[in-house]
Amino acid sequence: MFTNYYTKMKRKSLYGIFSFFLILNACQKAAEKPPYTIVQSLVEDSAMVVAEHPLAAMVGKEILQKGGNAVDAAIATQFALAVVYPRAGNIGGGGFMVIRLANGESDALDYREKAPATAHRDMYLDGEGNVVESLSKEGHLSVGVPGTVAGKELAFQKHSKLKDWEQLLAPAIRLAAEGFLLTESEADRLNEYKEQFQKANPDARPFVKDGVWKMGDRLRQPDLARTLERIRDRGAAGFYEGETAEKIVAEMQRGGGLITLEDLKNYEARWRTPIIGRYKNYRVISMPPPSSGGIVLMQLLTMLEKFPLGSYGFQSAKSVHVIAEAERRAYADRAKYLGDSDFYPVPVDSLLDPAYLADRMQDFDSTKATPSEVVGPLVKIGVETFETTHTSVVDAAGNAVSVTTTLNLNYGSKIIVQGAGFFLNDEMDDFSAKPGVPNYFGLVGAEANAVGPGKRMLSSMTPTIVEKDSSLFLVLGAPGGSTIITAVLQTLLGVTDYGMTLDEAVWAPRFHHQWLPDAITCEDAAIDTLVRKQLRGMGHRLENVGRMALIKAVMVLPDGKLHGVGDNRNPDDDAEGF
Ligand code: DON
Repeated sequence: MFTNYYTKMKRKSLYGIFSFFLILNACQKAAEKPPYTIVQSLVEDSAMVVAEHPLAAMVGKEILQKGGNAVDAAIATQFALAVVYPRAGNIGGGGFMVIRLANGESDALDYREKAPATAHRDMYLDGEGNVVESLSKEGHLSVGVPGTVAGKELAFQKHSKLKDWEQLLAPAIRLAAEGFLLTESEADRLNEYKEQFQKANPDARPFVKDGVWKMGDRLRQPDLARTLERIRDRGAAGFYEGETAEKIVAEMQRGGGLITLEDLKNYEARWRTPIIGRYKNYRVISMPPPSSGGIVLMQLLTMLEKFPLGSYGFQSAKSVHVIAEAERRAYADRAKYLGDSDFYPVPVDSLLDPAYLADRMQDFDSTKATPSEVVGPLVKIGVETFETTHTSVVDAAGNAVSVTTTLNLNYGSKIIVQGAGFFLNDEMDDFSAKPGVPNYFGLVGAEANAVGPGKRMLSSMTPTIVEKDSSLFLVLGAPGGSTIITAVLQTLLGVTDYGMTLDEAVWAPRFHHQWLPDAITCEDAAIDTLVRKQLRGMGHRLENVGRMALIKAVMVLPDGKLHGVGDNRNPDDDAEGF
């Protein structure tokens, strides 16, 4: 039924024809046509990388072709994203990586930012105990100790096949030093944030220039190239110690930030035990705390398993109602129980216990919405577009990586480390500044996610890998703040329950409920008018938002080929494979 809604775009990449250098050198002048060919749905025999930007996806493919495994490709792709996708690709932020090796073993890597040692629970409150909203989102106090470089190094040490760190950094260094041609979307975004860059920085170059950026303009980042060279030469110590660390700390001192040399030196990425659960004949491997992603996703799948969603129909009133009701309950649990499990006893087993979840749905009424008002005030969700990065990779041996990394909002805190050329995150906003007061994404939290020294802020990032009948089936994840989890859920249900192909599932319009605010937020094209009327009749409030999370996924097809799909909500999402 759904199959013909979307135009298929299965084309071979033109990049096979051109080498990296040819593209970089041939396009010296501002181009009128988009500088890259972007493929958002691609089927290939052996290996696949899907990422936010074609140059980064190409880097991943190149590493795979040189004999690197999925972890090598993910590392190189993400370093490249730090150059070509500065709004969210980063070395000044943090993230999570979920890995499934071809032998079936899995791993989860946490390189989420941490609060500095002098951070404290009330640091975003004024004298009257009210939250000063901007403090956790803008400026130097919003910055958590970055984790990205430590995470990449740890992943490399444990899982690299190439064992050649320099080779993984080389493409990013080249792109930063020689420059690359801006896509229309990145040029627009840089123009949009020009004033904020100027306000936040004494020198906002190279991200600000006289006049406006245009598609095809070359962005060179010489300071970033030198920072990446220090990381190439010294590994994580090239970031957390020496010149880069000193520059970060000087930046903090300039703006009253808290991060010290000690904070940087003490930063550690950590291996975690993935959240693993079953849904029908699928096995789902996802991220544990400090992400809420894995727990909330598994809660949702467990609550929904007994409902025949497929026969209800995609975005029928019955389907939307039961999914929204499950989401309302899972996000209420998120607000109360989830935080950094190194600091707070997150009751993981209880939250995932099928008996508890059956109980949670006990008061589900198939005819009526359960109001959230009884448990909290209505809160408002932010309107800024959603920016983080996700990369899904499968290599020729069948290893898979799902990695999401973020600066939080676009260009994070907007602060560029002077002389080091990269943006710092504003991840501190993911803490609960005060119980019940929503963060940027409208998410509320409590004690479990209060600010604490050295603590990691709760995340919604949901890098996920799914097995079907014990074999690799689907690798997926997304940027999109609080909507990441529900986008992963809907994409998964699209292929498992609604009979969609992967591109249909990724490109289908989405909806989202997060307990508070008490509303189903919908993309414009989601849920047709009649169904919306039925849902309102059941007591649901519906609100439109521009767009939600941006899924990047790879699916193993029944014939063993790989289907890579980028999200058509981001014009730069690209799949590369061979
Ligand atoms: O970790 C989180 O949940 C958020 N900081 C992710 C932010 C995000 O996805 C921003 N873009 N939409």
